[in-house]
Amino acid sequence: SLAGVDIKDEINRLRTERNAVILAHYYQEPEIQDIADFVGDSLDLSRKAAETDADVIAFCGVRFMAETAKILSPEKIVILPDMNAGCSLEDSCPPDKFKEFRDAHPDHIALTYINCSAAVKALSDIIVTSSSAEKILSQIPMDQKIIFAPDKHLGGYMARKTGRDMLLWPGVCIVHEAFSETELLKLKAKHPGAPVLAHPECPAAILDHADHIGSTSSILAEAKATESDTVIVATEPHIMHQMEKALPEVTFIGAPGADGNCNCNICPYMALNTMEKLYIALRDLQPRIEMDEDLRLEAKKSLDRMLEMAS
Ligand code: 13P
Ligand code: SF4
Repeated sequence: SLAGVDIKDEINRLRTERNAVILAHYYQEPEIQDIADFVGDSLDLSRKAAETDADVIAFCGVRFMAETAKILSPEKIVILPDMNAGCSLEDSCPPDKFKEFRDAHPDHIALTYINCSAAVKALSDIIVTSSSAEKILSQIPMDQKIIFAPDKHLGGYMARKTGRDMLLWPGVCIVHEAFSETELLKLKAKHPGAPVLAHPECPAAILDHADHIGSTSSILAEAKATESDTVIVATEPHIMHQMEKALPEVTFIGAPGADGNCNCNICPYMALNTMEKLYIALRDLQPRIEMDEDLRLEAKKSLDRMLEMAS
């Protein structure tokens, strides 16, 4: 903590003074989840950002999420505790390369996962999240050719589930890519009957062993409804904070990486945000998301289509 400052008290004082809303993703550290006004998955958080009447959105998540909030609520001040909170999926899809790919496939529309830059959103037709992808796909004619970017695992899962043949951009989430099938099988053998709840950013070899596949909010809902005394969770482990709070008598175990524990699956980008940095961001109203207005309006089209089609 900062010398002489009670960080929690200061955050609470500043949020009132600034008329700020604190939005947090489930992958944030427990203290941040607990102080947030709202914790949710990517779709929930973008809806909240679009609806809020606060003057300031303090976004505790990664940069593409805070950018999404700015695109949908341009008149608000959007702060992100650490501007370096990126995402490996966003990094895997540079806008110039994506544009080349699109230009090479002019008969395809681009369905793009929200985990990408504003520039890639501007080059896309429809944005999806894990919780909205299936519903959105079901509204697109079967003969429409589709590019799905940037997550090849979510895209592959959706292709298998809906029977569509989509052209996949080869991006991955480094966090979900790190789960080990061998270690997961060992863990399952140790806890027979424990359901495996997995995020669709996991590779197919992990999803093959899952009893439930869905976004963070759907994994959480499934966990809360469990009748099992042990549950295995194959997504970023900070989400287990919500599960442990809701069901203290159940044992939640993070799916392991190659080293046999779940610490390698902590998202290093999400972890850049801390209570101290949240306090400083609320105090200084910096770091702040700024965006070129033409880019914002272009990116907003594909996001608005998601919000319409997902509703
Ligand atoms: P959801 O919360 O939409 O499931 O997304 C997970 C994720 O990896 C966000 O970066
Ligand atoms: Fe990106 Fe993966 Fe971290 Fe989510 S968990 S922000 S997809 S690197």
